Amino acid sequence: SGKRAFIAGVADDNGYGWAIAKALAAAGAEILVGTWVPALNIFETSLRRGKFDESRKLPDGSLMEITKVYPLDAVFDSLEDVPEDVKANKRYAGSSKWTVKEVAETVKDDFGSIDILVHSLANGPEVTKPLLETSRSGYLAAVSASSYSFISLLQHFLPIMNPGGASISLTYIASERTIPGYGGGMSSAKAALESDTRVLAFEAGRKGKIRVNTISAGPLGSRAAKAIGFIEKMIEYSYVNAPLQKELLAEEVGNAAAFLVSPLASAITGSTVYVDNGLNTMALAV
Ligand code: NAI
Repeated sequence: SGKRAFIAGVADDNGYGWAIAKALAAAGAEILVGTWVPALNIFETSLRRGKFDESRKLPDGSLMEITKVYPLDAVFDSLEDVPEDVKANKRYAGSSKWTVKEVAETVKDDFGSIDILVHSLANGPEVTKPLLETSRSGYLAAVSASSYSFISLLQHFLPIMNPGGASISLTYIASERTIPGYGGGMSSAKAALESDTRVLAFEAGRKGKIRVNTISAGPLGSRAAKAIGFIEKMIEYSYVNAPLQKELLAEEVGNAAAFLVSPLASAITGSTVYVDNGLNTMALAV
């Protein structure tokens, strides 16, 4: 409690980012979110009109407050990186200061510092293509949006993170075991994210006393996952084969994230932590 969190990758009330925001709010943290620019309008409108009020409910009956929503596009580090066609795009021209560097500067101007940084975003334009058929640009786009985006966020937010703070990201087991269908370089992007978690834990630990961990989450029918096309099958597979035969709730990932960024986890850094009903331990479908 008394902590301030910036959560990148919240654009509706279905995904892991929203669930992490709720778990942190329930623990008393102040919540700032970064929302992908093209999704900003509908997210803010829905928030304002009360569409999320039911899912804003916290265990004590109060509603989660989001102190501020920042437009963000985590594939651009600073204004100089933004191509003309994106600058001219109506959705992007409607807001400003949405590159990673500018968002970190704005958060600094608004609040001075944060304690918790959450990365809950991914994008792979060719995710439905097998890796063998993925283009160079599709592969690089997946790594840019899903892996480098974390490096960039930590790079720009670390100077305003209070020592003892922590960051967390979300990964998927397709990084280490083959999951046919998780294509377009997304499996590669998650492998990079997990490796970077270890290296960044060392660097951010030494530089700013900041912990860096990632949660390898089980399948959830989020908006992003539905775009991949086989999420219902993965949920069913997990239900049938995991040690714990129950639905995996976003809330359970939210709670694990809240633990990992809290002082209860003060000696845990550089880790990939499975929150998947134990599915990762199985070698044989039964
Ligand atoms: P989601 O759709 O709630 O979250 C993805 C978010 O990324 C969206 O809000 C989207 O607007 C945002 N985004 C995409 N490109 C962006 C960019 N360039 N800049 C800023 N924001 C951008 O879906 P979900 O599934 O909750 O995803 C959150 C994280 O969880 C991702 O890293 C995903 O890979 C990971 N994950 C999801 C699993 C699942 O089954 N849903 C399983 C394991 C990991």
